[in-house]
Amino acid sequence: TFQPLVFSGVQPTGNLHLGNYLGAIRKFVALQENNDCIYCVVDLHAITAQLVHDDLRGQIRSIAAAFIASGIDPKKHIVFNQSAVPQHAELAWIFNCVARIGWMNRMTQFKDKAGKDRENASLGLLAYPSLMAADILVYRATHVPVGDDQKQHLELARDIAQKFNIDFQEKIRATGKGVDMVVGEEPIHGYFPLVEPLIDGPAPRVMSLRDGTKKMSKSDPSDLSRINLMDDADEIARKIRKAKTDPEGLPSEAEGLKGRPEADNLVGIYAALADRSKADVLAEFGGQQFSVFKPALADLAVNVLSPISAEMRRLLGDTSHIDAILRDGGERARARAEKVMGDVFDIVGF
Ligand code: ADP
Ligand code: NA
Repeated sequence: TFQPLVFSGVQPTGNLHLGNYLGAIRKFVALQENNDCIYCVVDLHAITAQLVHDDLRGQIRSIAAAFIASGIDPKKHIVFNQSAVPQHAELAWIFNCVARIGWMNRMTQFKDKAGKDRENASLGLLAYPSLMAADILVYRATHVPVGDDQKQHLELARDIAQKFNIDFQEKIRATGKGVDMVVGEEPIHGYFPLVEPLIDGPAPRVMSLRDGTKKMSKSDPSDLSRINLMDDADEIARKIRKAKTDPEGLPSEAEGLKGRPEADNLVGIYAALADRSKADVLAEFGGQQFSVFKPALADLAVNVLSPISAEMRRLLGDTSHIDAILRDGGERARARAEKVMGDVFDIVGF
């Protein structure tokens, strides 16, 4: 069997928001207690949708600072940026040859990001999920904490691992580096694990504060739609006060949130920030109006986020410290990735 290993990544594009924090970073922090974890600033992904950035290095440092300020320990675990480990791109090339074009064409994120002018999207944007599979599998990681929007990409990573394992089965056996595993009912001898997504929790998909049918996103033109990790207490309170709701108050049971996406979103955010279930939050606030719940939510959000943004500012005041953490993490990640790529080259036959 495979050694359990957690891997995840965040792109250095624009400000981190509450969706990134609750869907990803907060889970990264919780998982580090009982697992070996690798957390990556995925800078190679950042140039798929937009090629030229003003300050990519600054953005990379800012994500690394967010990881550490949120409580990730870069000594016990690994924090680094993707471009420091060339094996990600190397394995991605091999996976480009494993994956089928039809698989990529089905990805909803590609369709969303490419928009109407698909012929003019970068080839990198189409191949993005293949690089993401390589990010994970170049460490043979087994568990990936992500927001709900990444579910389809993780299914693709499983498809790529499975096709690699089956197509190279005899060669994997010959190297002696494989693992007996069962795919469906069939016992095979594979090299890559089929990754498990870790998506649960009360806020797997944090929605826009202005429109409960759209996910909270960096690219939403409305600043009121999202809470940024770096927002100050007044901004957080203002955005929550202005958050869209319906005329009813809070229900006393989760059933009562059905068909009320804005109410459901705010209760989910509260639950995730407080490490409680939605049912538990409703047991406290059921029957109350949003005029009571919103200030409580704002206080909670400020209590959780303010220490993180203060620590991020402190860390970013000394870029040499952050750079040293990234350099050290990159070296440790590279040592692991080199071993896996050595095996992969043997398996492919280079
Ligand atoms: P973004 O989606 O904001 O461009 P990334 O692609 O770098 O940022 O995503 C980083 C992590 O944040 C991923 O695990 C993604 O699933 C998660 N995430 C992003 N937006 C949300 C959201 N609105 N709700 C929950 N998780 C989210
Ligand atoms: Na995303």
